[in-house]
Amino acid sequence: MSTIKKSKPVAKKKAPNSVRILVANGVNLDLLGSREAEHYGAVTLQEIQSQMEASVVGLAEVAGLGPVSLEFFQSNREHEFLEKLSNAYDGFLINPGAWTHTSLAIADRLRAVARPYVEVHLSNISAREEFRKKSFLAPGAAGVVYGMGAESYLAGLCGLLLKVKP
Ligand code: DQA
Repeated sequence: MSTIKKSKPVAKKKAPNSVRILVANGVNLDLLGSREAEHYGAVTLQEIQSQMEASVVGLAEVAGLGPVSLEFFQSNREHEFLEKLSNAYDGFLINPGAWTHTSLAIADRLRAVARPYVEVHLSNISAREEFRKKSFLAPGAAGVVYGMGAESYLAGLCGLLLKVKP
């Protein structure tokens, strides 16, 4: 009687030189498309995701990188958002929404995880209310892009890919 040999489980390792980026959107960014069009335009988060997916190969080439995988995440729960920021990723493109201006916890987490991150905003936060001018994350960021609508994400991704180490 012949015995069937079980194949070894394949370890889920990162492909060599591949880069994992988390695109993390915080509180209320799920409402894009139906939210204060004068600040955020009509674009939805899904459309922003599609734009980035369509551009990532070209941007990776510009940055001289091999394959880049983008993972998209949005949460309105600060603890969930915070726990997603881990060293399983090589870098973060992050729009924390209102937590930008309030969350020392997210800033501390990013410092602890010690991966490069770029902070992005659709609106021009320096031309709005005073409280939006303060960002807890900006001092530790590799860069901050704001005021360009959905294109802030593309510009931020380009900058981030130039900073990450595979
Ligand atoms: C925002 C700016 C924040 O001040 C605001 O609270 C948001 C969106 C932006 O993308 O312009 O929710 O992060």
